[in-house]
Amino acid sequence: MTDRLIIFDTTLRDGEQSPGASMTRDEKLRIARQLERLRVDVIEAGFAASSNGDFECVKAIAAHIRDSTVCSLARANDRDIARAAEALQPAARARIHTFIATSDLHMEKKLRMTREQVLEQARLSVRFARKLCDDVEFSPEDGYRSDPDFLCRVLEAAIAEGATTLNIPDTVGYAIPELYGNFIRDLRERIPNSDKAVWSVHCHNDLGLAVANSLAGVKIGGARQVECTINGLGERAGNCSLEEVVMAVRTRRDYFGLEVGIETAQIVPASRMVAQTTGFVVQPNKAVVGANAFAHASGIHQDGVLKARDTYEIMRAEDVGWSTNRIVLGKLSGRNAFKQRLQELGIETDSEAEINAAFARFKDLADRKSEIFDEDIIALMGDESVTSEHEHYRLLALAQRSETGERPHATVAFAAGAVEHHAESDGNGPVDASLKAIESKVNSGAELLLYSVNAITSGSTESQGEVTVRLQHGGRVVNGVGADPDIVVASAKAYLAALNKLHSSGERVAAQG
Ligand code: KIV
Ligand code: ZN
Repeated sequence: MTDRLIIFDTTLRDGEQSPGASMTRDEKLRIARQLERLRVDVIEAGFAASSNGDFECVKAIAAHIRDSTVCSLARANDRDIARAAEALQPAARARIHTFIATSDLHMEKKLRMTREQVLEQARLSVRFARKLCDDVEFSPEDGYRSDPDFLCRVLEAAIAEGATTLNIPDTVGYAIPELYGNFIRDLRERIPNSDKAVWSVHCHNDLGLAVANSLAGVKIGGARQVECTINGLGERAGNCSLEEVVMAVRTRRDYFGLEVGIETAQIVPASRMVAQTTGFVVQPNKAVVGANAFAHASGIHQDGVLKARDTYEIMRAEDVGWSTNRIVLGKLSGRNAFKQRLQELGIETDSEAEINAAFARFKDLADRKSEIFDEDIIALMGDESVTSEHEHYRLLALAQRSETGERPHATVAFAAGAVEHHAESDGNGPVDASLKAIESKVNSGAELLLYSVNAITSGSTESQGEVTVRLQHGGRVVNGVGADPDIVVASAKAYLAALNKLHSSGERVAAQG
């Protein structure tokens, strides 16, 4: 058994399945590049057969990523598998991840298939996938709640057909660490050809145990791959969090005795990028990446840390990338410095014209905000409600008036395709008035599920406000994020960004067998 733990990141597939976390192709590409800088071993880039959009995302990531293996999910059928292989065609290293449910509950109620049919389909799918790709992962969905005898037959057949990785999902987050670890150990002991594949853990966080279960799967079960997401992003309570599992194995190397190839200084930048892109903010007390994770408030702790850091700290903040919150550019910075910083941040631009437009926005921001941080640049580049010519809705101008004792009023100019709208409204506050003004022209009928404001960088009221708006319409939930030193403008941008996501059609098949 190897002493290296493979880190399989599924932020762009399982993470993105979280309602409202859907990302555009460019956003996914940017995150994939950050995952590559983080040196994750495998990037699950999407589920190619689920929609044309997902297919294009997987293909784009496969074409750009060189150092990590790029993977696509596929249900256990020939069409999905062929589509995954097609999207992965440009990859330097490709993996097809095929799955079918194996618990009695899922087989009877969801698939309406017998055990024998599922076994046969798993066998045929792995066989077909292996014809198209050397690296094939097989997952029995709801594996942890499956009958162990049946699961052994399915997994043994998958290995015999050439599966190189076997993943045991706790799809509904039902497992308990010791039991999950034992479950995997027993499967490995019972299946005669188990040593021919790498064993993997995939845990959901419904009971808050995803990281603990994954670690037990590694320590007790002998798994050598962990499937996880940045910030634990994922449906319901999320997936196993990459930063926690990696830092647990790193910090407690004495216990796990395993190597991970992760460039840990890229953890915080990755966390921020995912939070800024999806609008899923990180709770302050979240381990490793929360704003308070290394903040010592109590006098006793502060005193101890100043005398000897390891009195109260088990990891160094800079080792996970906490030093990035520094001034990088200012009002006097030139185009070259700006362009270089974009490159250092891994933000790729399509053309010189795009850089010029971004530089103009940067200058505008620097006029209003004396210190520009990396986070400001990331927000500036991701602000699609104003940046992208391809976006349907774009903010052009906003004016608002609020005064004690007066009802606030807003006037908003925005583009909808080629048409320019001028709208006005009053409201309970300037944000309410601005969004009502936009809605008076768009008439989206969308329900506002969430509105939140955060400071992009801490410690100053000069910080840009980052607003997340979550809308629901016709069964779809989308998030829009907008940033600006003026939170009313940020709110309008966020609202238009969410409307853009509703506007772009995106029929997609759910990741279910
Ligand atoms: O949770 C799950 O079962 C999955 C599979 C598709 C691997 O995400
Ligand atoms: Zn999952």
